[in-house]
Amino acid sequence: MRADFIGIDFGTSNCAVAAWVDNKPTLIVVDENSDTPFKIRSAIYLANNESGAVSQSGKANEQTLNDMLNAGDILFGEQGFNAFLLTPHEGRYVNSPKNFLGAKIPKRLLDNFETLVVRFLSYLKLCAEKQLKCTINKVVIARPVNYHSTMGELGNQQAEALMLRAATKAGFTQVQFIHEPLAAAYHFEQQIKQPTKAMVVDLGGGTSDVTFCLLSENKANNLDRDGDIYATKGIRQGGIVSDKHLASGIISPLFGRGGRTADGRAIPNRLLSGVYSIDNMPEMADFYTEKRAKAISDYIVASDDPLPLIRLQRVQKQRLTHQLMHAIELAKIELSDQSHVNLTLTFIEKSLDVMLEREQVAQTMTNWLEKMFIMIDDAVDEAKQQPEIIYLTGGMGLSPLVQQALKTRYPVVKITVADAFSSVVFGALLKAKRLYCCN
Ligand SMILES: Nc1ncnc2c1ncn2[C@@H]1O[C@H](COP(=O)(O)OP(=O)(O)OP(=O)(O)O)[C@@H](O)[C@H]1O
Ligand SMILES: [Mg+2]
Repeated sequence: MRADFIGIDFGTSNCAVAAWVDNKPTLIVVDENSDTPFKIRSAIYLANNESGAVSQSGKANEQTLNDMLNAGDILFGEQGFNAFLLTPHEGRYVNSPKNFLGAKIPKRLLDNFETLVVRFLSYLKLCAEKQLKCTINKVVIARPVNYHSTMGELGNQQAEALMLRAATKAGFTQVQFIHEPLAAAYHFEQQIKQPTKAMVVDLGGGTSDVTFCLLSENKANNLDRDGDIYATKGIRQGGIVSDKHLASGIISPLFGRGGRTADGRAIPNRLLSGVYSIDNMPEMADFYTEKRAKAISDYIVASDDPLPLIRLQRVQKQRLTHQLMHAIELAKIELSDQSHVNLTLTFIEKSLDVMLEREQVAQTMTNWLEKMFIMIDDAVDEAKQQPEIIYLTGGMGLSPLVQQALKTRYPVVKITVADAFSSVVFGALLKAKRLYCCN
């Protein structure tokens, strides 16, 4: 049986699609150019048009950006990222669009993001239709409990409304949403043999979410599960924030933090502000201003040790923020399997590298972990009971530092780490099946 519905996990770092094929959930190939073809990097690269009006280095003409999004060449996933690395100044790279959907930004900018999401969802829909050889018009899209926003619930409403419009424009005739951790819970429920109070913790790239609920084999096909949900919480903190803490704590001295001028003044931290802000466009734009370039130049002249600031200048001039954070993210991922990793930053300076120890990275995560525990404690308080099992999912759940911290906090609760990149999309698919499938 091939059904005309899919589930989509529209993640901050990765997107995934699942369909119901031959009576079982099946992941769709969404990035043929990747070693992990069942998930795709949540980023696009817009190749430059002839006028050259849009570039990373110049001020983007928003009208042209919109035109490019509507008609121009868009490269998705690894292909887009690799093209961006090859020609960073010739096109426009947009990373993690999900981070901006709830933002308080001018309407025309938000419209551009909507067009971008339309293109992305159309691409994902096409991947599914190609693989399944049938038209797909119904979808359940997983969404975070709280989108990134300074507007609270209004930001959530703005983001979900944008996603709904975009999905409709992409050709879906029926669109529903599900909270990401609840989707993951539905997925884990498939393995449950007896009713179990489960806390599902989904730690992604942009957000961390938790659903504390009663999972039960008997109810697995019910559509209305509100009565089984004890608490749902979400914070606007995920792996990207953890990478930024790592960068500030360990990498920043390589760029001058803690240095002094020849006459004894401290190099101000604000000189580096925004250098890691791949999730905050205004902060990143501020880092790339002429004013900042001038400030960095002035401190290079005044510093008794200019080399770190010359590196910072190179990151600024050559717009290397994305490459820098990508290298840091890869090193962090490697640290999940190794106790230390050599982070090479040769794209900034020939033979620049730094040894990262897992324990040293653990120190930069204290604050991040504390926020995660506040979220979990809130859920436990609201539920007024303790979980019998914790399911840990999402990419950051693969970090042994996170796993160890959770074990220390919940020593007697069974913790299962599973399906980091597929639990949410499979759960969205399960909801789609319950909604759209008549048999
Ligand atoms: N092995 C690993 N160890 C540690 N972190 C990892 C590992 N693999 C991936 N990550 C991190 O997990 C995050 C991505 O996880 P995931 O794909 O679940 O996020 P997402 O679903 O795209 O984001 P969100 O749910 O927040 O919108 C990134 O920050 C990435 O660096
Ligand atoms: Mg996710």
